[in-house]
Amino acid sequence: MAGEEPYPRKILQYMEGFLVSKTLFCACELGVFEQLHESQRPLSVSELAGSLGCSEDGTERLLNACVSLELLNADTDTHGTVFYSNTEMSSVFLTKSSPTSLFHSIEYSSRTIYLCWHYLNDAVREGKNQYEKAFGVNSKDLFEALYRSDEEMVKFMHLMNSIWNICGRDVVTAFDLSPFRCICDLGGCSGALAKQCVSAYPESTVTIFDLPKVVRTSQQHFVSPQDERISFCEGDFFKDELPQADLYILARILHDWTDQRSVELLAKIYHSCRPGGGVLLVESLLYEDDSGPLTAQLYSLNMLVQTEGRERKASDYSRLLNAAGFTHVHIHNTGKIYDAILARK
Ligand SMILES: C[S@@+](CC[C@H](N)C(=O)[O-])C[C@H]1O[C@@H](n2cnc3c(N)ncnc32)[C@H](O)[C@@H]1O
Repeated sequence: MAGEEPYPRKILQYMEGFLVSKTLFCACELGVFEQLHESQRPLSVSELAGSLGCSEDGTERLLNACVSLELLNADTDTHGTVFYSNTEMSSVFLTKSSPTSLFHSIEYSSRTIYLCWHYLNDAVREGKNQYEKAFGVNSKDLFEALYRSDEEMVKFMHLMNSIWNICGRDVVTAFDLSPFRCICDLGGCSGALAKQCVSAYPESTVTIFDLPKVVRTSQQHFVSPQDERISFCEGDFFKDELPQADLYILARILHDWTDQRSVELLAKIYHSCRPGGGVLLVESLLYEDDSGPLTAQLYSLNMLVQTEGRERKASDYSRLLNAAGFTHVHIHNTGKIYDAILARK
């Protein structure tokens, strides 16, 4: 309005965005939501501070910020004591035992991604990932750097695992995949998407192809032997022969790599694929006119800080698929974080 001082609401909000993220990270990592879940009743500041081993003052500030973020409810009893409890959203997405828990994604964001983003300026200047500065590791081999310890690898696998409990059904049902009985999930990691596939397509089997130590960890910690329609194959998808399959899934794989390496991998798939077979790409798609979505644009910056790749537009993936030999390319935007592209041979 005329005469009013301009107020930079959005800029202030963006400037403080990391304070919100850190508040969420801190409440998760200290175990606030877990403690409230386990206690099965609302808790006061002193009860929570005591069980978490934290200062009462710090805990009270943290809890009140969480109330404003709608992560906690606060109710005052007749004596004036405030009791805190999880909101529905926190119970469903922030407690470890919930089947749709984002706890491990938040932990990885806090302990790994947040540290890499400290070097975003350098990443933009240099046009490359920042493992060397953030963790003191050489990133010549990307996944050697990402899996710099067994503990880091398991944390990464948990990160990969969690989102498919929320978005997995949408991507595996974006197209009718029932004609593809034999599916190979290349870089299938913890098997979360494989589980979604066998659940959506009762006639299909899925082979998870991944690096040997990932396969072993997946078998030990993520996929039960009772999941009879899921099997494993150890290998390097750039160097080794690929298993025979009707459909190859590449979920969040090409965004790790340059165009050149992506075409190399897609061409290998094309050669292993029988006519009529296909490849399903699962990625976060940028709009064709570069105007969004913001999440995909931020993920693309994250790919710069953490990988050799980038997020791409549907037309970019079509170009890579065409260069590898695939001609029939279909795009499906799910409206959630991840979209699906099906190409046939
Ligand atoms: C970003 S993760 C995606 C995991 C999974 N597809 C998902 O969406 O949850 C990349 C995966 O590719 C695997 N990978 C990386 N390089 C590989 C290679 N050369 N051969 C086989 N798998 C590889 C990693 O171990 C990891 O599981």
